[in-house]
Amino acid sequence: MSADMLLPRLGVNVDHVATVRQARHASYPDPVTAAALAELAGAAQITVHLREDRRHIQDRDVQLLRQTCQTRLNLEMAATPEMMRVAFEVRPDMVTLVPERRQEVTTEGGLDVIGQKDALKRFIADLKGAELKVSLFVDPDVEQVQMAARVGADAIELHTGRFCEAKTADVRKDEHRRLVDAAKTAVKVKLACYAGHGIHYDNVHDIASILEIEELNIGHSIVARAILVGMERAVADMARLAREARQAALAEARR
Ligand code: PXP
Repeated sequence: MSADMLLPRLGVNVDHVATVRQARHASYPDPVTAAALAELAGAAQITVHLREDRRHIQDRDVQLLRQTCQTRLNLEMAATPEMMRVAFEVRPDMVTLVPERRQEVTTEGGLDVIGQKDALKRFIADLKGAELKVSLFVDPDVEQVQMAARVGADAIELHTGRFCEAKTADVRKDEHRRLVDAAKTAVKVKLACYAGHGIHYDNVHDIASILEIEELNIGHSIVARAILVGMERAVADMARLAREARQAALAEARR
């Protein structure tokens, strides 16, 4: 295995470039342009969430990204018939199924894979029947991860929100332990393991150093920083921090 394969892939979520555009119903800033700049700066994937209410990313963005994305396109979506049709048409490199509530400011929790196992199994089978790959966004809960494997997912994305938002050292430690346990379980049940939500420049270290995590999807912190320093520098800084954390963790594991 080459050293590069052990480094986490950085997926840059450009939803909030579209949030700024939609605030004025303007044609700029264009998330498609932002995605190209992110790729130039080292993003290994572009992630977008096409929400039912189209509050940020629009259908046109997803279609253009499919045509222009030079790396991988990860489409986050709810498990609905409408989104199934979009996935069939766009054919992203990964479909990430997320729970969606209209009133929420952002995705609040992971999917309840256990509670929705039969519906998810059918939905995933239809996507996989069209040769699409499917990841499930789940809380770092061992039983949810195990069920993700049973319903046929290829991967899980661990919800890192609770870890990232922890207010005390104890909660932070507990949440980190949950992420580690869930990541190890994913590998055991042969799921690729990704992580995302709330990851910032000052907490990426503790997540990127979990060796089982192959991919990080990061949006708000990068777009927020890009407003001040530019997309290329914002992405390059994050890619470097993730790489350095992983290299240090690998060196430690080999000792
Ligand atoms: N991964 C998933 C599944 C998400 O829903 C989101 C938020 O859209 C992200 C990653 C990115 O989260 P953030 O914008 O907090 O970095």
